[in-house]
Amino acid sequence: MANDKGFYITTPIYYVNDVPHIGHAYTTIACDVLARWHRAGGETTRFLTGTDEHGQKIQTAAEKRGMTPIQLCDEVVQNFQRLWTQLGITNDDFIRTTEERHIKVAQAFFKTLMDKGDIYKGSYEGWYCVPCETYVPEAQIGDDKTCPDCKRPLTRMSEESYFFRLSNYQDALIAHYEAHPDAIMPRARYNEVMSFIKGGLQDLSVSRTTLKWGIPVPGDERHVIYVWLDALVNYVSALGGPEGDLCKTYWPHAYHMVGKDIIRFHAVIWPAILMAMGLEPPVRVFAHGWWTVEGDKMSKSKGNVVDPFEMERLYGADAFRYFLLREAPFGNDADFSELAFVSRINSDLANDIGNLLNRTLQMIEKYRDGKLPADDVLKNASTLDADLRDLAQKTIETMDAELGAFAFDNALRSLWTLIGAGNKYIDETQPWKLGKDDPDNRLDIVLRTLWEVMRLASILVHAFMPDTAQKIWAQLGLKDSVASIRRGDWLWGATTAPVTVKKGEVLFPRIDLGKWKAEKAARDEAKQAAPAGPVTIAKPSDGRVFEQIEIDDFKKLEIRVAAIERVEIVEKAKRLYKLHLDLGYEKRMIVSSIREFYTPEELTGKKILVLCNLKPAIFRGIESNGMLLAAESDDGTGEIISLATVDDNFPVGSKRKVVWKYLN
Ligand code: MSP
Repeated sequence: MANDKGFYITTPIYYVNDVPHIGHAYTTIACDVLARWHRAGGETTRFLTGTDEHGQKIQTAAEKRGMTPIQLCDEVVQNFQRLWTQLGITNDDFIRTTEERHIKVAQAFFKTLMDKGDIYKGSYEGWYCVPCETYVPEAQIGDDKTCPDCKRPLTRMSEESYFFRLSNYQDALIAHYEAHPDAIMPRARYNEVMSFIKGGLQDLSVSRTTLKWGIPVPGDERHVIYVWLDALVNYVSALGGPEGDLCKTYWPHAYHMVGKDIIRFHAVIWPAILMAMGLEPPVRVFAHGWWTVEGDKMSKSKGNVVDPFEMERLYGADAFRYFLLREAPFGNDADFSELAFVSRINSDLANDIGNLLNRTLQMIEKYRDGKLPADDVLKNASTLDADLRDLAQKTIETMDAELGAFAFDNALRSLWTLIGAGNKYIDETQPWKLGKDDPDNRLDIVLRTLWEVMRLASILVHAFMPDTAQKIWAQLGLKDSVASIRRGDWLWGATTAPVTVKKGEVLFPRIDLGKWKAEKAARDEAKQAAPAGPVTIAKPSDGRVFEQIEIDDFKKLEIRVAAIERVEIVEKAKRLYKLHLDLGYEKRMIVSSIREFYTPEELTGKKILVLCNLKPAIFRGIESNGMLLAAESDDGTGEIISLATVDDNFPVGSKRKVVWKYLN
């Protein structure tokens, strides 16, 4: 991996008819780990993700929400982009299939294939699965006429269609995969695809007349390009098309990461299209398994869809990244349980890596006032010290090989073997017994050795847990960012300048399981009371973006009814009033900038809604204790506001009842 071959890694592009779930997060995090690892290895790396925005699914979802398809896409795409930011994803590009740069290339592909005779016009009749956007071959359909994949009813359809001569590529595909047994991984998927190809390939319908929301077929606008052909082309359109410089650099090093359900599109249809276009098939398509949740299939109707935003908010991006990749072998299915997640945080993160860092820094601070013993002490390493060094250096190679095979869980296991060895080394060397002034400098050697282990651990864990790696790096007293350290500088003893360590915040505070269980039960109850629904972003026309919040977030707001008793003008502040309020159980004063909208007379006696538990703020030297609620509008002719009020006879805020409870 150290030689610069180039590395191009892609996620599937995600449908924007729904919100991101852990399945999406899983693939994207896995790709991010590889991208970070290859970049650190010094390779010219490119990481692409994006969204699949055409097709029936999107058109139907938009209709249901009373929006145009592009409005839906523009809204939902933000959920993905925001999630990737929150999860520390370092994609170099984000492609949307509604972008002009993509549409041009998709049409150019179609036209080239037509010109070459690989796409021809015919007519198609068959059983079509609308959700899967695919015709299902008769052989796979039972008497109940349902889709073998999603189990939903099929529709009989007949339409004029363009076809891609997939059948022509059967032999070429078999030959290609026989020559490149690693081009489909894991092995079970390779076998599955090979037997599918050998079973015979039929030409593929690649246009639709029944649908509007798609890319028009060049020269025949009654048809739109089949959404899967449109989507697959993204991997090349994002590189500027087959003739682009980026394509020349990266296409020969293309790795596609996909879920097991979409392997055939990527390992049969896509390589055949590429062959027809005169392009190389991807180096590898890797199909990972699916997540179930506590043993059950994840589905909206079951209400068990794991929300990656929630996981990130509760446990942080790094712990989530770690858990997803550590919990199960990458090609296998995996089961998500929040308890298993929390347990891993406590054992692997708090206990193992967190402890090793803590103990190492604590001892350097205690015995050497934080000054790291100089690197030349390493020359006097004993066998015990050298063994740990050798293991550390070997871990780099092991992780390289494991990540080369996309075996994330094994790569992490190897790194944790090193961390375990570091903790054991402390127990064996018992630095606290070595004293401050031992003649052989054993204490210096031990402290430096431990520090070196942690330095390497920070470098090696960076691809998986970037923020944690950086925290470790800084606490070790190292400058700059761990992300900028390239392979050549990973070496043991590479730091020769003086270093002062600085123990900082605990990396992963232990989670008290008792408290956690109670908190989780309350969360589940709140969800049942008010099912979270999709985490969409409301985007009003003024362009502001709001994330959905939990009911618990809302409960934090203490909103009460207050009567305005008296209004005072604030001198030299054109917009401000002091509003003296009666809350029933107390009087208080808030400063409010509503002077241009209401006179004191209009305000006096009004019953308004006030956010009471807002931290005090100072305006023009006056302390304001709360904030009133008002609607605000700017229709282009000027700003207007309207106070949120309640009926005159409504009681002012009692101590116990807050207003939203009355409203519920
Ligand atoms: N738009 C197509 C991909 C086109 S790529 C040229 C698509 N999109 S998707 O949004 O439905 O799914 C994207 C990915 O999520 C797929 O790789 C799929 O396998 C994955 N997952 C969906 N549910 C999943 C789990 N429960 N677990 C793991 N991954 C899952 O398909």
